[in-house]
Amino acid sequence: MQTSSIHGMWSSRLAFILAATGSAVGLGNIWRFPYITSENGGGAFVLIYLLCILAVGLPVMFSEILIGRRGRMSPINSIRELSDDAGATRAWMGLGVIGVIAGFLILSFYSVVAGWTLHYGFLYAKELVGAGAPITDPGETFGSLLGNAGELTFWHGLFMIMTVGVVAFGVEKGLERAVSILMPILFVLLLILLGYSMNTGYFQEAVSFLFKPDFSQVSGPMIVTAMGQAFFTLSLGMCAIMTYGAYLPSDVNIPRVGVTIALADTAVALVAGLAIFPIVLAFIVAPNPELTGIPAGGPGLIFESLPLAFSTMPFGILFGMLFFLLLSVAAWTSSISLMEPATAYLVESTNLSRKASALVVAGLAWTLGLASVFSFNIWSEVTIGGKDIMSAIEFVAADIMLPIGGLLTALFAGWVLSRKITREELDQKMPDWAFQSWLWLTRIVTPALIVVVMASILGFF
Ligand code: TRP
Repeated sequence: MQTSSIHGMWSSRLAFILAATGSAVGLGNIWRFPYITSENGGGAFVLIYLLCILAVGLPVMFSEILIGRRGRMSPINSIRELSDDAGATRAWMGLGVIGVIAGFLILSFYSVVAGWTLHYGFLYAKELVGAGAPITDPGETFGSLLGNAGELTFWHGLFMIMTVGVVAFGVEKGLERAVSILMPILFVLLLILLGYSMNTGYFQEAVSFLFKPDFSQVSGPMIVTAMGQAFFTLSLGMCAIMTYGAYLPSDVNIPRVGVTIALADTAVALVAGLAIFPIVLAFIVAPNPELTGIPAGGPGLIFESLPLAFSTMPFGILFGMLFFLLLSVAAWTSSISLMEPATAYLVESTNLSRKASALVVAGLAWTLGLASVFSFNIWSEVTIGGKDIMSAIEFVAADIMLPIGGLLTALFAGWVLSRKITREELDQKMPDWAFQSWLWLTRIVTPALIVVVMASILGFF
């Protein structure tokens, strides 16, 4: 059993928790969760999403961390070693390959959206110091940003440079230092926003929207979206948490850290919803009598509706700047985990240094991201399966590739690795019933749930 990785190690249990929570908490919680919740009608969607976190997310989370820690290398190479040891076929390496491809696809559009947040943070900062015009018509501001390919490319590039800047410095000096400074700032900013929203007078209504399920809204595509979101928000299904697991000291209890990360991530998504929906209700729904409830927001939800609120609330410019700063920070600690698996693989398999490897990955992802940039302007007419290019990439990567990756991860941990190995990695002192529950969830229940949900995409029911 390897006790350390050539890429470096987290210096403590807390460092891993911060890094993995930093990976999990991101645009998925604060941008994607509210907008897809608004598109899927609220409560019922949230309930199914929470069930997916429990029944699918947690078992896959444990599996990823333990595979990574046992292999101590980038996913592709860890899986090769572990398959060889178990006498299984090397075809399992396909899981690592799917992970790397999904990582590129996600990083490509993720960086574009993170670029929007940087741009908004900058707009508010300029306004705050009196150097910029106020955002009076957020629809127009957002529309003209999307229409400007050059500007989108610039912010997308800047964000990619920020990400490569961390990954190039490696586990201790790059990843760990960045997250231990940035994560605490993130939590404080979110609580300030929540405090504001609780005083808008619409907090109760936002609570009912999020937690009162209307089961007439449930449909096959909605369940697919909810499961995709569970994977996306926990950073599962593309071996990112597996890569972070490779740097985890051997004495850390995996179930305990896994549950901590999932709880923190879920809490941030729910708090983000509770911070954002009262603002939407107070500033958009209330002044427009023709709106009967929270309208479906789309990817522009927080970029169009929140600035409307910020333009009328006291200290709105300051809050606007803080909010988009918060979102940029959250996106940053997530994107480093999207870049790390492919970077670690290049370091292991080529003569490239870590810096060069990170640059290659960033360059490729940036180039791929141009497709998302152009999907809003010069290629706005192009559709793939009825979706614009960016939404199509988002759908294929998050709602299809991540669940397939998660399915293979669970099957690998459950059936290929011996019980001796999984037990040793999870927790030697774990009571037998707890281990057996994990094992059979991972072997049967979780894979079956994923297959059933995926089958609905193919139109089986
Ligand atoms: N979980 C992050 C978010 O919610 C995004 C992310 C980072 C991710 N790494 C990932 C998603 C790996 C899937 C797989 O914003």
